[in-house]
Amino acid sequence: MPNKKIIIANWKMNLSLGETKVLAKKFVKKFTGFKDGEVAICPTTIALSEVAKILKDGRLKFGAQNVFWEDNGSYTGETSISSLLEIGCQYVILGHSERRAYLLENYEMIHKKVMAVIKTEKLTPVVCIGESWKERETDRRDFVLVEQLWQALSGVNVFGSQRIVIAYEPIWAIGTGTAIRPDEAEYAHKIIKLALNDMFGMQVVSNNFRIIYGGSINPKNVKGFTDLENMDGLLVGGASLKVDDFYKVVKEITK
Ligand code: 13P
Repeated sequence: MPNKKIIIANWKMNLSLGETKVLAKKFVKKFTGFKDGEVAICPTTIALSEVAKILKDGRLKFGAQNVFWEDNGSYTGETSISSLLEIGCQYVILGHSERRAYLLENYEMIHKKVMAVIKTEKLTPVVCIGESWKERETDRRDFVLVEQLWQALSGVNVFGSQRIVIAYEPIWAIGTGTAIRPDEAEYAHKIIKLALNDMFGMQVVSNNFRIIYGGSINPKNVKGFTDLENMDGLLVGGASLKVDDFYKVVKEITK
């Protein structure tokens, strides 16, 4: 049986706590009875425990947009893995290009976070990689993707049923309204899969890894992404802020 598609709503820092609660409630209502895919919501850190209460029946999952690699101590402003687990978080986005751009998060930090998250076996990291426009223009895309995978995942041991999601998010496609062409996404996902096979072996990759796409996905363009061989799901920003649009995206990709 094919794996269920994973569709993650990244709400970024777009909503207040109150707006987040309203939207989360709309999601619960809209997704009543939905069971074709795995859907997760990633609100801001401050909203996580409220969202946890709203999603308490467990049909929709939720995740954080970041976490720190140490579990406790003098790390002002950070959030620990154990506190995410305490409220029932199942996913955590790591190394989003916006954090790399605005918070100077680098691959050493992302690697530490991946290592720490993997140890728990209970939280699925969503590791974001993707090339800039310049890297694409100069034909360095494949190299950049493989390099980012190595930086984030080298030395990582994957145990048992631990899942790792790789989110391919070309930086130039995020928030621009222009998604990548589906055949190009398929090509990039294939490159990612081959690199992962080199690192972890085919069996582990097929059991434990999923590769999803993010960047300007909306109800109009999602159709082209539905039947791609190496497309395990989507990471959706803007279109996840409107419940009807997001629902259409989810329905289409899980067809
Ligand atoms: P958009 O869907 O708004 O382009 O955002 C994608 C993204 O960055 C998800 O993490």
